[in-house]
Amino acid sequence: MEKKFKRTLVTTALPYANGPVHIGHLAGVYVPADIYARYLRLKGEEVLMIGGSDEHGVPITIKARKEGVTPQDIVDRYHTIIKDSFAEFGISFDIYSRTSSKIHYETASDFFRKLYDKGEFIEKVSQQYYDEEAQQFLADRYITGTCPHCRNERAYGDQCEACGTSLNATDLIDPKSAISGSKPVLRDTKHWYLPLDKWEPYLRQWILEEHKEWRPNVYGQCKSWIDMGLQPRAVSRDLDWGVPVPVEGADGKVLYVWFDAPIGYISNTKELLPESWEKWWKDPETKMIHFIGKDNIVFHCIVFPAMLKAEGSYNLPENVPANEFLNLEGDKISTSRNWAVWLHEYLRDFPGKQDVLRYVLTANAPETKDNDFTWRDFQARNNNELVAILGNFINRSVVLTYKYFDGKVPAAGELTDYDRETLAEFANVKATVENLLDNYRFRDAQKEAMNLARIGNKYLADTEPWKLAKTDMERVATILNLALQISANLAIAFEPFLPFSAAKLRTMLGMNEFCWEQLGRTDLLAEGTQLATAELLFEKIEDATIEAQLQKLEDTKKANQLAEHKANPIRENIEFDDFMKLDIRVGKVLECTKVPKADKLLQFRIDDGLGGRTIVSGIAKHYAPEDLVGKNVCFIANLAPRKLRGIESQGMILSAEDADGRLVVITPADEVKPGSEVK
Ligand code: 2FM
Ligand code: ZN
Repeated sequence: MEKKFKRTLVTTALPYANGPVHIGHLAGVYVPADIYARYLRLKGEEVLMIGGSDEHGVPITIKARKEGVTPQDIVDRYHTIIKDSFAEFGISFDIYSRTSSKIHYETASDFFRKLYDKGEFIEKVSQQYYDEEAQQFLADRYITGTCPHCRNERAYGDQCEACGTSLNATDLIDPKSAISGSKPVLRDTKHWYLPLDKWEPYLRQWILEEHKEWRPNVYGQCKSWIDMGLQPRAVSRDLDWGVPVPVEGADGKVLYVWFDAPIGYISNTKELLPESWEKWWKDPETKMIHFIGKDNIVFHCIVFPAMLKAEGSYNLPENVPANEFLNLEGDKISTSRNWAVWLHEYLRDFPGKQDVLRYVLTANAPETKDNDFTWRDFQARNNNELVAILGNFINRSVVLTYKYFDGKVPAAGELTDYDRETLAEFANVKATVENLLDNYRFRDAQKEAMNLARIGNKYLADTEPWKLAKTDMERVATILNLALQISANLAIAFEPFLPFSAAKLRTMLGMNEFCWEQLGRTDLLAEGTQLATAELLFEKIEDATIEAQLQKLEDTKKANQLAEHKANPIRENIEFDDFMKLDIRVGKVLECTKVPKADKLLQFRIDDGLGGRTIVSGIAKHYAPEDLVGKNVCFIANLAPRKLRGIESQGMILSAEDADGRLVVITPADEVKPGSEVK
């Protein structure tokens, strides 16, 4: 049986305050969460929507260091931009706060302390890199060196961005501190670990058995984590920015950002409701829903629930409708490469058009797979759907009512069969939209709402009241009454999706009170109600406007290429003899398989013209193994063999890397015998 709840707590992933928010954040988290919260409020339910900035973590300290300011300066700057832009965009948070607040420090600190006192942590000493010049431990991102897989000299301690391999800082060849440039040394350091393995049986039952209704992408990710076996996770770091670890002997240590950030949901609720926050977190009749992007699934479905369980008095989420990613014009959105449509810039460039972006992001919501935002699609959806269908229908209904009835809702006479057919078509809209929203299918729900406008538009086009005005005013009255009732339904149905336009529409129709329950009714506007003057809800977006946005992206691409060239200049000249030392050959790929437990590595069996050899290459993120079988590739044949994940790699397959880190294998232009030399 479906569980009944009294109230709903909607949490939205706290965005890092190291940059503004972009359309990827909006489509993934804030627009769907806002639709959901507005829908529940419209139904008269008790609901709370929590948001805030995530102000800790290493990237913030790196940015501060680069700019020569404090981390607090950075988060102050971006928290303000993010908060203001959300407000202007109509994201209806009940509170939008931040994790550098006093109440958050207290809450996170108390939470850790409670788990510590209950003996829920394991203490472990491990070796970590320490910068003796700067006198501090180094976060993985603060260490650079040569990647052991692809020899990229600018790999980070947690990842090589050239070959995509996840690394441990101790894997790097020639490690360097990004702070002082000196060679770091390994030192012992103590940290606290949450033993996720302890919670594995519980999590397996709770998610895999009791929450089979979760989205397949969420359920699948959880299943694969649980099936791989959960390990203890460190919840502290050696860093000077964050919530200090509240136990003795923990100087210079702070809570790991992923430990304190989700507690931010609790602190923000407390800040808003100091007296009654507990009912939102501890009463089993409260339903908690986490809105997040797919990169946050493990933290919200496994780590945070384990923390809450370990604490013992909190509810766990009822659902976590995580979205996939939104791309921009075919490329991954990236804050560091400025490849994004930033919300604060959109609001500046498209004043008053919040709903257009909300509409487009929901129409393309990455609910089941990654999706693409393009400016041409934005324009088309505005011009062909919002203007031509929704806006046009409303405008015609109101303008005609002014023309024939002085702007007063006319009385409906007898209905024709066609009227009844039209009414029947929208009788189900409430149940349909409701069912979709209850199941977090926002994209389809909005489509249904739009369908209502389509029905209205078709009704006016088919009945042509303007042609009947000379002969049958009674019929015109009936048609316009019905058209206006449909308009009133649209004002309700679109409130969660397009709140600005829905509010304008309600003003236009003189609707003071409204609620979700009224949806589907045809008596929403009483006869004689005076309409306000017609106002266009949407306007056409011209080509020039779109071209300006596309040009902006083109400029970004060029700037990135220049920066890439600067960061990756042609290396020093070498002597011909040095070049001749390299033995590059062509080989045919006979077999190609994924290396188990290494998500970046592929193992090749190559026909090298000399009896064959094995090569391991870090390109699994860029190719499916079967795509490469049968291909001719170029490889370095005389690179000293080395072991990767226990497999001896006898050479290196050559790939070209573009500025986005995409790797493309080099193949000869024509068929050539395996073993042929490349000169
Ligand atoms: O991925 C992110 O942007 C994180 N700042 C999300 C944190 S969600 C929650 F735990 F606060
Ligand atoms: Zn690499």
